Amino acid sequence: METVIKTIFRKKLLTVSLLLLTAIMGSAFLYQQKEWKAPASADAKKNPLIADAGTLTAGKTVYVKECQSCHGKKGKGDGPSAKDLDIPAGDFTKAITQSQSDGALYWKISEGRKPMPSFKKKLNETQIWQSVVYMRTLKQ
Ligand code: HEC
Repeated sequence: METVIKTIFRKKLLTVSLLLLTAIMGSAFLYQQKEWKAPASADAKKNPLIADAGTLTAGKTVYVKECQSCHGKKGKGDGPSAKDLDIPAGDFTKAITQSQSDGALYWKISEGRKPMPSFKKKLNETQIWQSVVYMRTLKQ
């Protein structure tokens, strides 16, 4: 009797362990899929603009018109359209975004990734760099 119970218990333990392992590996895989990284060449690109008053004003204009609906007034990802997105629009006040290079941010804005649209046809290069400069003011 005791051995029967032991066997059942062991079998259950094996099933539970296997399930747990699958869950852990599955979420690690999903997490990997989710990471969004600019290619090294884009990451190394330097911003040709400096953060003077003109650039900041221009960057704000682009941001308010094209980005704020999702990313929110202060970049917290809480714009009026954010609630309709499948995934959060991120939080630009945080290091996870601010620690990325200007080149990496430029690349992400140009390329987009669903549900974020690509802006390389809608904005010119200067406007994209201006929006990167403006994004830096959202840092907390
Ligand atoms: C339709 C909603 C929407 C609009 C409009 C939008 N974004 Fe996004 N944005 C997102 C979403 C959602 C993500 C997260 C995408 C992901 O992780 O796959 C994102 C991510 C980003 C990222 C990457 C942040 C990081 O930490 O890696 C940057 C940079 C960015 N957006 C800048 C902009 C700028 C600048 C504009 C305007 C020119 C803009 N976005 C317009 C929805 C939007």
